[in-house]
Amino acid sequence: MANSQPRSQPESQPESQPESQPESQPESLLSVRNVETYYGPIMAIRGVSLDVPKGRIVTVLGANGAGKTTILKTVSGVMDPQKGTVTFEGDEIQGRDPDWVARHGIAHVPEGREVFPFLTVRENLLMGAYARSGRPAVAEDLDMVHGYFPILDERSGQQAGYLSGGQQQMLAIARALMARPRLMLLDEPSLGLSPILVKEIFGIIRRLNEEQGVTMLLVEQNANMALQTASYGYVLELGRIVMDDECGRLLESEDIREFYLGVKKDAVRGKKRWRRKKTWR
Ligand SMILES: Nc1ncnc2c1ncn2[C@@H]1O[C@H](COP(=O)(O)OP(=O)(O)O)[C@@H](O)[C@H]1O
Ligand SMILES: [Mg+2]
Repeated sequence: MANSQPRSQPESQPESQPESQPESQPESLLSVRNVETYYGPIMAIRGVSLDVPKGRIVTVLGANGAGKTTILKTVSGVMDPQKGTVTFEGDEIQGRDPDWVARHGIAHVPEGREVFPFLTVRENLLMGAYARSGRPAVAEDLDMVHGYFPILDERSGQQAGYLSGGQQQMLAIARALMARPRLMLLDEPSLGLSPILVKEIFGIIRRLNEEQGVTMLLVEQNANMALQTASYGYVLELGRIVMDDECGRLLESEDIREFYLGVKKDAVRGKKRWRRKKTWR
């Protein structure tokens, strides 16, 4: 156990001294080290390492097929890595089953929402709290998620299959929230949604982070939205991290602007900028 060492500090010492937790080295809630994950003989993740500090939103950007979903599946226990470690709150969790991981504070909002279409909105939300006990707290949390997603309150008795894509995404996030996670894994919440809905959902993601203190690992193809929402970002290509930095800096990066944000470097007519080879470090 991580806390089996006797505390050397006197009890009167305040918990969070500024010098014990410097701004530049925030406490890592999730730490992925040199992970390799395969589909049969195919290595989808090729030695990925990343950190998610407590209280932050961290994003992994990458094109379709880069391996974003595989990273999240490896963290949530849906897939077991062949190599490497996944450390959550100081304990190695790689190879645990998804149910164990969910019960220990990590909620996975999968790609494509995956709500239960024949259950009502309310039943879907209660499924999110299955690992919990204590009815009053569950009722309180229903109120809390309805506060963020009022539409889910209005549609409470409706079958989830009849919700729009945006509403299903909201339900998937709200269901994950019902488990009171400390870390939420979000797999492309923008997928297939209109720009207005994407903005709304990312606004709520930011509020959940700030107001509920949920740490987030967000994987996205929508680089613009993800970089505006997260504080730190990793760029994934063909299963490898090729770049990482503060999101503000990534937004300014020439390569990110050109290949992920679609911003032209110069507007010379006829120049075939897409022919330029990527030149990652
Ligand atoms: N079930 C699967 N069987 C075989 N290969 C897969 C499977 N799922 C994904 N892959 C491959 O693994 C790589 C990473 O996929 P994925 O993690 O889904 O990428 P992303 O989420 O970034 O689109 C891709 O090359 C993809 O073709
Ligand atoms: Mg994916």
